[in-house]
Amino acid sequence: MQDLDCYLVGGAVRDELLGRPSPDRDWVVVGATEAELLALDFMRVGKDFPVFLHPQTKEEYALARTERKRGQGHRGFAIDASPEVTLEQDLGRRDLTINAIAKDRTGQLIDPYNGLRDLSDRIFRHVSEAFTEDPLRVFRVARFAAQLPDFKVAEETQTLMRSMAVAGELQTLSAERVWQEVAKALGAPHPHRWFEVLGDCGGLAPWLEELQHLAAHRFYSGSSEQRFAQLPLSMAELEGLAKRLRIPKHYVQLAADRLLYGAVLSAYPWRASQAAELYHALTELQLLHDSARINRVMALLRPDVVAKDGAVLKDIRQGLRAVQLPADHGMSGSAYGEALKQLRITWLHRYLAR
Ligand code: CTP
Repeated sequence: MQDLDCYLVGGAVRDELLGRPSPDRDWVVVGATEAELLALDFMRVGKDFPVFLHPQTKEEYALARTERKRGQGHRGFAIDASPEVTLEQDLGRRDLTINAIAKDRTGQLIDPYNGLRDLSDRIFRHVSEAFTEDPLRVFRVARFAAQLPDFKVAEETQTLMRSMAVAGELQTLSAERVWQEVAKALGAPHPHRWFEVLGDCGGLAPWLEELQHLAAHRFYSGSSEQRFAQLPLSMAELEGLAKRLRIPKHYVQLAADRLLYGAVLSAYPWRASQAAELYHALTELQLLHDSARINRVMALLRPDVVAKDGAVLKDIRQGLRAVQLPADHGMSGSAYGEALKQLRITWLHRYLAR
């Protein structure tokens, strides 16, 4: 193991130099073969690339490789991961200079593409024309801008990104990869920069055409899911976007719940005259069965109420559940449902008027 020629690379080196925490550490191994790593008990995990998990640390180790694109789209790469591939070649296939710095075991930095200079100048600059081989990199640059707001996109990189967008390269990506970038950007400290950078290079169409006018949108603090739910979208736009990007259901539901019931729910403290409308919203949000969904919407719309008056929804839930028709009501089916509903609205009216 000690003889392996390996280097820390990518986001871990970049983030360490920026003094930010990094979620994971990726390594590159130079001059080795798959058989050698397997003999050292590494576990192969990469389907498309020779990537392995270290037997003890479980960190990712990849054989140094070069990639050349065969055709349009992300799939279809000619990969060379033979022991002759050098560290410099491996770093050369990467997206940005600040992501193409390596660190050896002694702590020495290897920086053939001047990533250190761009880090200190706060510039996102592509390493080479090979940037265009993975169109997701356009979204990645925008996402890095949302995470590192004092960085600027180099002019030549902006030009390259624009040419990729114009050539229709972004269409070739899978919905899942694009959505992952959107979700990360919405969870970043400055999501509006994602929209700015993509807007500047024409990268919002075709995936996010509904969000073309968001540069001036004010993002409140919150999770990625909460920020998504606050985007100024109509129901038709939300549905279009959700289908195209295959957005996870919990994101779409929160956004739809805000669109449909946000007006009445955020008008807290509720007036007695709103009893029927509020009852409709609460039952659609399944309050009588389970409070999880309503709690998520209220945490989005009125975190102040959740913090200060959290018990109010519990009271309403208990009160509504306790309302029953008299034992001898003699009704069934929809007549029964309607009578119970009216009785519950009456209860809610009284509760809100108290
Ligand atoms: N990389 C690349 N092109 C991509 C994806 C990744 O060149 N489309 C390279 C970059 O060198 C990147 C490294 O692979 O730094 C690791 O990728 P990843 O873990 O996806 O991103 P990080 O840069 O580590 O950033 P983060 O973990 O914050 O997403």
